[in-house]
Amino acid sequence: MNARVLTPELLDHLAPDDPRAVRSRLDLARINAVMRQGAIMTKLLAGFPAPRRIVDLGGGDGRFMLGVAKRLAGRWPGVTVMIADRQAILSDETSAEFARLGWRCEVLAGDVFATLPQLEPDIVTANLFLHHLDDGALARLLALVASQAKGFAACEPRRSAFALLGAKLVGVLGANAVTRHDAVASVRAGFHGQQLSALWPTQKNWTLRERGVFPFTHGFTAHAL
Ligand SMILES: C[S@@+](CC[C@H](N)C(=O)[O-])C[C@H]1O[C@@H](n2cnc3c(N)ncnc32)[C@H](O)[C@@H]1O
Repeated sequence: MNARVLTPELLDHLAPDDPRAVRSRLDLARINAVMRQGAIMTKLLAGFPAPRRIVDLGGGDGRFMLGVAKRLAGRWPGVTVMIADRQAILSDETSAEFARLGWRCEVLAGDVFATLPQLEPDIVTANLFLHHLDDGALARLLALVASQAKGFAACEPRRSAFALLGAKLVGVLGANAVTRHDAVASVRAGFHGQQLSALWPTQKNWTLRERGVFPFTHGFTAHAL
């Protein structure tokens, strides 16, 4: 497909308690399930050594990482997940579900460029977040990640004709107007080829892997040697 096109996403500009935002986050959970994002992220993380602390960039309400925690808690006990998001919308219920797995989940609200340097992660993750940034901002963010962590895994929208078709059809899942807009915008701002590897600050001392994952995902991992 053509070059990345960035259009502001509506969910980013709605108050957290706006009913359209609340509904759109429910849609997002359903879309994550259809895209198999939780299973794909778990597989991307499988090769990493057990971490003490994971920072999830743009982690929203934490429910995506809760799904990942359910899959990994047996192998990785006692992990702390820090949600780095502009909005502090982790619910008590989600927090309690992390605790039942033996994990902790906390929020550091603010722009990721301000919060990530405070967090000392072992692993950084991003699900449906990196595509919000233009290439210049992405290069700066990936440099920050590489300076802070030993592993990075991202599940982003694949910029492909098939993914665009899927995004145009999210209405059949009952998605609202905010989600229908943002799904298409996300694919147009998504990735293909080796675009994230090209923006990683250095190939030296890191193993990078980037590929499309069926049906709609673009997966990227960086692992310090
Ligand atoms: C599409 S949502 C994905 C949420 C979550 N990862 C998921 O899969 O459910 C993108 C999230 O990124 C957050 N966000 C966007 N730009 C941000 C920034 N510069 N710093 C921190 N959070 C940001 C938004 O608030 C939103 O929660």
